Amino acid sequence: MLDTFWNVFAIVIIIGSILGCWWLLHWTKGISDRDDEDDIHDTGHVWDHDIRELNNPLPRWWLNLFNITIVFALVYLALYPGLGNIAGFLGWSQENQYEEQRAEAEAATAEVFARYNAMDLDALIRDEAAMETGRRLFGQNCAMCHGSDARGADGFPNLVDAHWQWGGGYDTVLATIDGGRNAAMPPWAPALGEEGVPQVIEYVRSLSGLEHDAALATEGQGKYAMFCIACHGPDGTGNPALGAPNLTDDYWLYGSDRETLAEGLHEGRFGAMPAFGEQLSEDRRKLLAAYVIGLGESAAIREGRN
Ligand code: HEC
Ligand code: HEC
Repeated sequence: MLDTFWNVFAIVIIIGSILGCWWLLHWTKGISDRDDEDDIHDTGHVWDHDIRELNNPLPRWWLNLFNITIVFALVYLALYPGLGNIAGFLGWSQENQYEEQRAEAEAATAEVFARYNAMDLDALIRDEAAMETGRRLFGQNCAMCHGSDARGADGFPNLVDAHWQWGGGYDTVLATIDGGRNAAMPPWAPALGEEGVPQVIEYVRSLSGLEHDAALATEGQGKYAMFCIACHGPDGTGNPALGAPNLTDDYWLYGSDRETLAEGLHEGRFGAMPAFGEQLSEDRRKLLAAYVIGLGESAAIREGRN
């Protein structure tokens, strides 16, 4: 109902304005036609004793310009949507223009991605054009969390390194991007108790060779064995299947200072990587996986690990 009202409202105003313009033109023409062309018609207004305001007809070419705009408006409204919800004879609409352009763009990128799809991981990582496309896709979809340089931030992993929380194999990284990841480390402080927390913290710090209190760490070792090995492993190297980080390296997702470690034990850690399986085409997800692995690999080479 309301829709119909606004459509009719728009149509009446548009047609009304065009008719109004047409009428105005002819009405003023009528006035000036009343007199002979040579006759000087004035409005009767006089300034400074001798300056008179004239009321001459518009030149014909000028009048015709106005007529042309009226014809243009009518032709335009017949061809294109403009009158309320009337579609126009050409059937053009913003949506189908968008769809057409999108289909064209898809067709163009399909060619590019067909080339990438035919390449194996190594070749992809070495292909500059592929990595440039990857960089752009990363900028559009991932940079808001992982940073435009992919170096992450607190709670958002640095992807420009050889440390993988969930695993760095191609299929694993692709699975991370497709399905997302939900890390779940429950809060341990209640189980560890008042004194257990600082003890475990010192032990965790000792695992990666950070400065620590040896006596407290020894106490902590027993509690670690009781509460933490299930996920982080007996030696602290973690478990990619659970996304449990390696605690023995110099890489920290959240931080290694005592305050941050205590915060994790009190509140738990629930890092969430969103799933892109529905949002991005398979081609794009595959290329992104290769791009991210490429970042890690070049870091590994830089760090002299491979
Ligand atoms: C149920 C499995 C599980 C258990 C048990 C567990 N953790 Fe975790 N832990 C995880 C997961 C998963 C993460 C990653 C959290 C994230 O990514 O948000 C994590 C993260 C951490 C981190 C952060 C590492 C970083 O890089 O910032 C620390 C420190 C940690 N755990 C210590 C412990 C300690 C100490 C215990 C024992 C008291 C423990 N965890 C028990 C699964 C576990
Ligand atoms: C809304 C923020 C967000 C966006 C957007 C996001 N990520 Fe993540 N990503 C995370 C978080 C948080 C984690 C860590 C999850 C955890 O704690 O285990 C993560 C983890 C990852 C990991 C696992 C790293 C490892 O060490 O195993 C990869 C790979 C990854 N993201 C790639 C991507 C790619 C590629 C994109 C873009 C398509 C992307 N992410 C977009 C937040 C995000």
